[in-house]
Amino acid sequence: MITKESLSRNLLAAQYAVRGPIVHRAQQLEEQGRKIIYCNIGNPQALKQKPLSYLRQALSLLEYPPLLERQEILHSYPRDIIEKVKSILERHPHGTGAYTQSAGIPFIRQAVADFIHKRDGIPTDRDHVILTDGASKGVQASILALLKKPNDGFMIPIPQYPLYSATITLYGGKQIGYFIDEENGWQLNETILTASVEKAKREGIDPVAIAIINPGNPTGAVLSYENITMIVGFARRFNLSIMADEVYQENVYDPKAKFHSFAKVMHEIGETGVSLFSFHSVSKGFLGECGHRGGYVEFRNIPDDVLSELVKLQSISLCANVDGQIATYLMVTPPKVGDESYETYVKERDGILAALKAKAELLGEEINKIDGMSLAVPQGAMYAFVKFELPPDPRVDMSTMSNVERLDYESKRDEHYCLGLLEKAGLCVVPGSGFGQLPGTLHFRTTFLPPLEEIKEFVKKLKEFHLRYVQKLEESYQLSHS
Ligand SMILES: Cc1ncc(COP(=O)(O)O)c(C=O)c1O
Repeated sequence: MITKESLSRNLLAAQYAVRGPIVHRAQQLEEQGRKIIYCNIGNPQALKQKPLSYLRQALSLLEYPPLLERQEILHSYPRDIIEKVKSILERHPHGTGAYTQSAGIPFIRQAVADFIHKRDGIPTDRDHVILTDGASKGVQASILALLKKPNDGFMIPIPQYPLYSATITLYGGKQIGYFIDEENGWQLNETILTASVEKAKREGIDPVAIAIINPGNPTGAVLSYENITMIVGFARRFNLSIMADEVYQENVYDPKAKFHSFAKVMHEIGETGVSLFSFHSVSKGFLGECGHRGGYVEFRNIPDDVLSELVKLQSISLCANVDGQIATYLMVTPPKVGDESYETYVKERDGILAALKAKAELLGEEINKIDGMSLAVPQGAMYAFVKFELPPDPRVDMSTMSNVERLDYESKRDEHYCLGLLEKAGLCVVPGSGFGQLPGTLHFRTTFLPPLEEIKEFVKKLKEFHLRYVQKLEESYQLSHS
């Protein structure tokens, strides 16, 4: 029988905090009958967000086309959805149970290209679009394709979404972390970027790409146009490909912030020498269809022979799942004014986005009232990266610690805190060390996806827990001192 020792070193080394031991413990407590508020993962429908009727109505007919013959059933479907389903089946008569072309169903790739053109007003080409099983598979394929030798490095934000660090470890590449600037709304900072790439080079790492998450996970920040322009210039200077993770592009709540795609900015500044991989998904936005695993990657400034290799890579897993491809089609071709389903679609879409905005604001306001906690009200995405302070332990001298020792010490502190928050208050969040954080700071990441009432309960319980936790720590330090 194999043992853990028989497994890939890279697999053993890879870490994925979002589904780590704290979540496991939360599930155990729940099985014992405890009420847990899950704020650990951006999984909207698991946190009571309703699926859009439009999307589910279309999928239901597509999964079982004989329903299209049943007039008594069709009465309950809006006419435009029936027509849309028929037109999908005309163009794709095999339905959902057959493999498709490796890169995805051609008319869906065309619809994605049209969606990008409409969003950004830039030229697009369906041959530069590959449909993927969620954005994750697009990110993983891009890292795999760009990783030529073990010392090739990928610049990833700190804090980051652990898909990046875990995949780089899994495929045997090197991470080049760059801190994003909490004091400056979590924007990227050119001096920090340059310092981290140059340090990596001195250590023998060859930087090949930079990953950017915009709007941000776990920060909820939205990058400004100027910041994106700076990043493109930086990528050009260091000959890096850009991996733009734009899965939260619909999730912008701050009226002063605006989503700008890397594709649009690069087009507008005339950048044709930097290769761009951009990712989108049906999992986020207002669809929240994480389980359907739909998404795409769009390539720019990539020669045809490279494109063929990327399609070949996709063909090794045959194709993305077809329900996910169709969910992507439905995402990029929503109901239009005048369609019977339009009103419901708009009502559901706006309801979800307005609720997310209200919850982001409530969380931001209430957390800032807690002594020792701070948070920039999230401008977008579905997360808040909450900074908190704990009293220093007089027995620990941080000044003698190396950076690694310090990160290790701090990760134990934030893990202990988050475990306590779960055990005592039933709140499941993820320690900041799972995403990376500036030495000397402590954070946890929470989503603001649960219903408003639960967010209110969350903040109340968080406050009670935090004050008690800090008080107990202070008492224990005094005892150990006396
Ligand atoms: C920044 C970011 N990228 C990618 C993903 C994965 O998305 P998908 O479900 O499309 O694979 C997530 C999921 O939370 C995410 O936060």
